[in-house]
Amino acid sequence: MKNTIKSFKQAKINKENLTMLTAYDYSTAKLMDSTGINGILVGDSLGMVCLGYEDTLSVTMEDMLHHTAAVKRGVKNALVVGDMPFMSYQASVYDAVKNAGRFIKEAHADAIKLEGGADVSEQIKAIVKAQIPVMGHLGLTPQSVNMFGGFKIQGKALDDAKKIIEDAKRLEDAGAFSIVLEGIPSDLGKIITETISIPTIGIGAGKYCDGQILVYQDMLGMFSDFTPKFVKKFANTGDIMKEGINKYIEEVNKGDFPAKEHCFTMKEEILKKLY
Ligand code: KIV
Repeated sequence: MKNTIKSFKQAKINKENLTMLTAYDYSTAKLMDSTGINGILVGDSLGMVCLGYEDTLSVTMEDMLHHTAAVKRGVKNALVVGDMPFMSYQASVYDAVKNAGRFIKEAHADAIKLEGGADVSEQIKAIVKAQIPVMGHLGLTPQSVNMFGGFKIQGKALDDAKKIIEDAKRLEDAGAFSIVLEGIPSDLGKIITETISIPTIGIGAGKYCDGQILVYQDMLGMFSDFTPKFVKKFANTGDIMKEGINKYIEEVNKGDFPAKEHCFTMKEEILKKLY
């Protein structure tokens, strides 16, 4: 069944947990889609886990469109959300609508995600008015890393917690269909989830959110630069990959690969003429 923004909202009403993962390419997205995952975010985490940057700030619109289009080609049922990169929506409402539109027209995303609270509510209103569904993102929003002074958990102090709750209400009022809550205390995730009527998708925001999202390389043990506390490794795919690559090296070195069944033949009379 195709997941839509309506099925996301219905899941909250039905108290069914939503599952999301990130993906950045066709074959991973196709594999993920076959599992019944509800949503795939083409996150700007692309910059860190695929492109090797230290943060997400260098990711461009062209990077995001290229990868979102690849993911979308592999997906039939999951809701595909394209992540708006740093400076593609902050400077003006015009930029925000124009760039959000590119995710739909050029990459065929089902929705877009952007980071921020009240500061970006005008952008969200205008994007939704242009008929593009918007997922919000609050808490430890990675594009604000320099303002936070590092990747630090947000919402522990009273004023910060109140601001995040207020921002969540503003995003709902602006027309967002869902909100990612990242790197906040579980109890704050619970309060926000109970306060707003749109689904919250948590990453490091505890178990009371309406759904969860993780970066797939983190949860499959494929990214070793650092592992945040909120990540659980559900499989050690990195080890399995290394094992396969080592076997390949060994067999090529020994001359065992390629074997007869991996090779093409030609007619004997043609072969003779080549000598
Ligand atoms: O870019 C990303 O992958 C994200 C998720 C971590 C929510 O924003």
